[in-house]
Amino acid sequence: MTRSFSAPGRVNLIGEHTDYNEGFVFPAAIDFSTTVEITPRPDRTVELASEHYPDTFSFPLDDPDAKPRHSWTDYPQGVALVLHHSGYPLTGASLFIRGNVPVGAGLSSSAALEVSCGLALAAVSGHTLSRLDLAKACLQAENEFVGMRCGIMDQFVSAHGCEDSAILLDCRSLEYRVVRLPASVRLVICNTMVKHQLAGSAYNERRQDCEAAARQMGLPSLRDVTAPMFTESAGALPARIRLRAQHVIQEIERTERAADVLMMGDLTLFGRYMYESHESLRDAYEVSCAELDLMVELARARPGVFGARMTGAGFGGCTINLVDAPHVNQFRREVAAAYHEATGITPEIYVCRAVQGAHEITT
Ligand code: GLA
Repeated sequence: MTRSFSAPGRVNLIGEHTDYNEGFVFPAAIDFSTTVEITPRPDRTVELASEHYPDTFSFPLDDPDAKPRHSWTDYPQGVALVLHHSGYPLTGASLFIRGNVPVGAGLSSSAALEVSCGLALAAVSGHTLSRLDLAKACLQAENEFVGMRCGIMDQFVSAHGCEDSAILLDCRSLEYRVVRLPASVRLVICNTMVKHQLAGSAYNERRQDCEAAARQMGLPSLRDVTAPMFTESAGALPARIRLRAQHVIQEIERTERAADVLMMGDLTLFGRYMYESHESLRDAYEVSCAELDLMVELARARPGVFGARMTGAGFGGCTINLVDAPHVNQFRREVAAAYHEATGITPEIYVCRAVQGAHEITT
């Protein structure tokens, strides 16, 4: 019997480059998703096919020499191998994947792919996996099989998303809080349509800088550094490392405060934190780019906009904008026209809803 499963992409409202520093993040799952149709097979082979790519790829579950091929198939293969070797033995299966999460736009198409396939493979093999174990298996696959040293934010929110809500996640304890978004605002995502080269290596370099900063301060992670401690010890850090640490330490604090003010309904203050986050990512963490900066400035000048910032890893991709519902159409029109005029690029602008995390959709 064929069953179907789906997992969403995400947008992060605030708390950027804090997850791998054991800090806070505040993402929402969005209504772009990856779906998997899965049919069990009598053998011990997993076959992967996608509506987006012409080739199919098969691999045996028990191959000790499995290696990544630097293709989209690495994500589901990595998840299958992690599950299979960590207490969730899998049956063979054929998977057909479709989806509409924009690829390479910073909206976590890879987490949606991992989480939907992980859920599907576990389910047809008779395992009920907690959402947290699913997210952790997907993270391990990405870190160890794909080779991207990302944190847990994307996989976690793709598994745990809640309708009309964002998730305040403590990436150290993995405790989280579901925060309802005010009904009067819309999550508007502006895709700059640019993706800079070297994003992957620059990401891993940032992570190394953070680890070096914590090490030099004699602490396990930047989560352990308070603002006064940082003021005292910052002088001893090399300039670049100091700037990276400054962003992370301030952003962790800002994210907690931002979630608090959103719970109190103060959209204006929440928006101010979004702008501060963007400036810190631009000037201290140096992961923005001209197109993202322009998109934020164009948004900022429009009526009904509470806040705007780059979202995700950076180096291109998207901005997230909190826009008062009645102003959304005007916002879309004007920002798209102004961005096109300045860059010659036609942006894509998505008005998103926050949705529930991964689940079965078999009809
Ligand atoms: C990417 C990673 C996440 C996170 C963000 C930056 O999306 O996959 O783990 O580090 O970048 O906040």
